[in-house]
Amino acid sequence: MQGFSSAPVREGPLAGVPPAGLRKIWTWGILIALGGFLFGFDTGVISGALLFVRTDFGLNSFQQGTVVSVLVLGAMAGALTSGRIADRFGRRRALEIEGLVFLVGTVVAVFAPGYGTLLAGRLILGLAVGAASATVPIYLSELAPKDIRGRLLTLNQLMITVGILVAYLVNLAFSGSGDWRAMIAVGSLPALLIVVAAVLILPESGVWLLQRGRRGECRELIASVTDTATADRLIERYDRRTAEEAERGEPHGTGPRALAARRVRPALAVGLVLAALQQFAGINTIIYYAPTIIERTGLTASNAIAYSIAIGVINLLMTIVAIRAIDRAGRRRLMVASLAVMTVTMVLLGLSFVAGWPSELSLVFMVVYIAGYAAGLGPVFWTMIGEIFPARVHAAGSSASTAVNWASNFAVSLAFLPIASAIGQGETFWIFAAISLLGLLFVVRYVPETKGREYERIDADLQHRFGRRPTEGAAVR
Ligand code: BGC
Repeated sequence: MQGFSSAPVREGPLAGVPPAGLRKIWTWGILIALGGFLFGFDTGVISGALLFVRTDFGLNSFQQGTVVSVLVLGAMAGALTSGRIADRFGRRRALEIEGLVFLVGTVVAVFAPGYGTLLAGRLILGLAVGAASATVPIYLSELAPKDIRGRLLTLNQLMITVGILVAYLVNLAFSGSGDWRAMIAVGSLPALLIVVAAVLILPESGVWLLQRGRRGECRELIASVTDTATADRLIERYDRRTAEEAERGEPHGTGPRALAARRVRPALAVGLVLAALQQFAGINTIIYYAPTIIERTGLTASNAIAYSIAIGVINLLMTIVAIRAIDRAGRRRLMVASLAVMTVTMVLLGLSFVAGWPSELSLVFMVVYIAGYAAGLGPVFWTMIGEIFPARVHAAGSSASTAVNWASNFAVSLAFLPIASAIGQGETFWIFAAISLLGLLFVVRYVPETKGREYERIDADLQHRFGRRPTEGAAVR
């Protein structure tokens, strides 16, 4: 099986990319990952802003809930549509459009005269957040030489965590004045930067250019980070693989239909299960509800805000650990260790509530849980959805997985407090522990290692794990 992921730029051996080329790729990567920053910022800022919106607009608790969750609904829709946009207009244009939508959403929310307009602004922001969260992983993966692919893709999660932390700090900075409009307005700066970068600095993805038959531009792109001989060699290899693929009668097409092809189903299963697992393991009950949970442990509200900043810092620091480890230890090891830590800490967190242990202990378990998540499940999910799909369905696969991630996020955030009230908070954490454990078993059995591998090997591993025979070409190392 040959996928478009075997396209040139992605395959360039690191040794073949000189330091100047690598610097360029990292700069592009950081600019693209600003989409992740906005993801984190816009989901994080509302927890602080809401405290003041609530009194300003006189919102009841249902209305407050809608201001938070309408973004997640918008994100689901944004993620679903992003695949088509990224395939039709290219990855660069898609990011540009998403940056513009971010700007529009921010302006609408910042100047909202009342609840209805604020809701509309948050919905528009959600569309941008969701679409960007699906575009960023594929864009990064299509520009990355395989040896640094993990690190470059992990930038996405790093920027998500930076965005969350900056949002908490912005909340803190404006909490004295209660200026919630200023809190939300801060997001316009990175949004503007994304638009400027997409228009002036970022290149189009080489994979997309080749799919569109724009070989000259692709050659120029590869040559700009390596040299023309490497560009020619990689494009030739791409042609050879495309021809082999056609000979084998592999399905063509780019959209959701091609995603359902038998050959792609194992990748789709891994993408969708990891997407759901990332949310159903309970991460956002801690991220979104940390202050609420902490207040229940008997600490004051101001301690709770300081504590959420501490959570943000741990989340960020451990993501940096993951970036350093992902191309060395590999994705599977990080994920298994991460899920093991998450399972154990959720069991203990549940116990601490049920058995009435000192609240300091609950806090320690929450911090260790976040650390475990940030070092594995958090970043590895976003990395892998850029790696497991054949390139022709990169955009569609990322789009579907991301949409499931947002839908799961929505379901968990909605159900958490009612379930906790019904069966108890500690018992609810045990449900998350059980899900993490099942997730661990799934990873051990079905998730392929992608570290440093060409697409063919990833696919062969996937087919093998799902009990299918790899095609001859795919079996070759
Ligand atoms: C998840 C978000 C979560 C964040 C926490 C991301 O990977 O998709 O839902 O809030 O990690 O760092």
